[in-house]
Amino acid sequence: MRILVTGAAGFIGATFVHRRLAAGDDHIIVVDKLTYAGNPANLTGLADDPATRERYRFIEADIADEPLMKELASECDAIVNFAAESHVDRSILEPTAFLHTGVMGVYSLLEAARSEHEKRGGAFRLLQVSTDEVYGPVSEGLSVESDRIRPTSPYSAAKAAGEHLVAASHETHGLDTIITRGANTYGPNQYPEKLIPLFITNALDDESLPMYGDGMQRRDWLFVADHADGIGVALDRGEAGAAYNIPGDGVERPNRAVTEAILEHLDKPWSLVRIVPDRPGHDRRYALDGSRLRGLGWEPRVTFEDGIALTVDWYAAHREWWEPIKSGDWHDYYQQQYAWRLEQSTDA
Ligand code: NAD
Ligand code: TYD
Repeated sequence: MRILVTGAAGFIGATFVHRRLAAGDDHIIVVDKLTYAGNPANLTGLADDPATRERYRFIEADIADEPLMKELASECDAIVNFAAESHVDRSILEPTAFLHTGVMGVYSLLEAARSEHEKRGGAFRLLQVSTDEVYGPVSEGLSVESDRIRPTSPYSAAKAAGEHLVAASHETHGLDTIITRGANTYGPNQYPEKLIPLFITNALDDESLPMYGDGMQRRDWLFVADHADGIGVALDRGEAGAAYNIPGDGVERPNRAVTEAILEHLDKPWSLVRIVPDRPGHDRRYALDGSRLRGLGWEPRVTFEDGIALTVDWYAAHREWWEPIKSGDWHDYYQQQYAWRLEQSTDA
């Protein structure tokens, strides 16, 4: 398949590209704007390796550049869109970029897909990578794909808006679309603003771990390779117009348990953990039913125990990857998000 993969200098997109190029004979064009979260180091090797260099191209661009997206789509059979602003806390501080990429960016990709769909009489697929957060907090049971979506943060609202545009293009123009809703994802190469990489890298430096509220919010964590493979299965075998949940290993964990696992693996003390004022609108629990994707033959392979050990070891061994990130602009963000919280913090 010839695939236009957008946002693939980020965490999950880069993993998807590495795995697709290693596993098959896909040709991939990556488009990424290289925002603060986009990191060319995540794609290292692909342009030079004799096994991939003829099948891989990188273009620095904004997905909202519709003429360029049309031109690139005309060279491909499908678009897989990972591009997004992806951190809830940043969406609370400044949501504009979330809307630009999540609404106008997605619309531009849909227009590119529509133009290919019309030229070819179908035979062009667009997969929108979405999130379990569009369901909003789930107090009990598991979210199924037909549930109403009720986003609660600017991030999840922007993702939900993108989903609505995708679903509308399927209904109105007959576009071949797929939506995936992945669970909270973790693994190597994740920008260290999210819970797991933030707490690992802070603990490695003996800095405080700022735990929001009571730390009893629950997530079903999904290892990044399993997420990337789930997207691949939905791309290859999904039904046009369908959405697919991609759950984690099926064991929900409160943030306290995740934190304990990290500290235990690093042999660092619990006293690093500080309870800080909560994130506004903080979703208490997400939980997904993955039966539909399992029906296509996908299963998560990595348990949380194995995945967290591998991830902690990776950050411990790759300071050269994350130390440059935790400087410059990072410092301003960290001050704005955490300085006042840590001033008001209490023992955990
Ligand atoms: P990330 O923040 O690591 O990467 C996002 C990438 O998108 C970056 O490389 C960035 O430069 C690029 N980008 C942003 N705006 C762009 C634009 N306008 N044009 C081109 N590129 C742009 O994010 P991630 O964690 O890899 O998430 C990828 C996707 O998966 C996102 O759509 C996110 O909503 C979704 N998702 C993430 C998780 C998670 O836990 N991380 C879970 C479920 C779904
Ligand atoms: P996060 O990694 O931001 O993912 P999401 O908000 O998309 O679920 O957060 C995961 C959980 O960890 C969530 O309940 C918020 C919590 N959290 C903290 O307690 N402290 C932090 O500094 C961060 C970033 C998250």
